[in-house]
Amino acid sequence: MCATPCGRSTFTLKKGLSMIDGTRVRLRAYGKSDYTKILDYLDFETMKLYRGELPLPPPLDYEAKWAAQEYKPNSLYDWAIETIDGGHYIGGCGYARVDWPSRVAEINIFIGKPWRAQGYGREAVSLLLDFMFKQMNLNKVFLKTWTFNPTAVRCYERCGFVHEGRLRQQIFRDGDYHDQVVMGLLRQEWLSA
Ligand SMILES: CC(C)(COP(=O)(O)OP(=O)(O)OC[C@H]1O[C@@H](n2cnc3c(N)ncnc32)[C@H](O)[C@@H]1OP(=O)(O)O)[C@@H](O)C(=O)NCCC(=O)NCCS
Repeated sequence: MCATPCGRSTFTLKKGLSMIDGTRVRLRAYGKSDYTKILDYLDFETMKLYRGELPLPPPLDYEAKWAAQEYKPNSLYDWAIETIDGGHYIGGCGYARVDWPSRVAEINIFIGKPWRAQGYGREAVSLLLDFMFKQMNLNKVFLKTWTFNPTAVRCYERCGFVHEGRLRQQIFRDGDYHDQVVMGLLRQEWLSA
């Protein structure tokens, strides 16, 4: 297993699963045992931060629905995030809505509560970006988050994302309206960092 600086990845094959190894985390394919853990991680507070829709508890058949998700690697893919030390499944990240003519895609990520604010998110995003720029040949990666999620904003800034815009009062959470933050990173910025 090869350890590399954050954001510069190495591909390995272990137990038949394709993996991207960083220094402290790896991205790998989801396995069945991860799905129950997802439900533990997607608690009410996390749902309020992670998704823009109503933060309802995931349905009981969420696990089956996730597993049955149609395999569309060209437009949507979710990696499981695992610690290299101990092999703990700690969250997931991936891309959706790939616009191939423009070579632009949106990413998403969640890290389970016990594992947050320890640098795992930053490294996972960096590995994902490396894959998207160097393997998928994308020109731009962007994401949307909320002003009430400073951990996410800081994590993305540390990965090189710049603030591109703000949609005012775009979401109602916890009794108030909040702005949505749009952040983006260009291929050239990533490669020259
Ligand atoms: C957003 C998320 C993926 C970030 O991953 P993470 O592992 O927690 O983040 P990291 O530890 O890599 O980086 C967090 C940064 O925010 C900082 N931070 C933590 N709490 C903070 C706070 N309340 N205010 C400001 N900065 C904060 C950390 O110090 C760190 O910055 P640093 O590297 O300069 O020290 C993770 O917190 C998460 O999954 N949250 C819930 C779901 C979610 O919000 N998903 C993203 C939706 S857009």
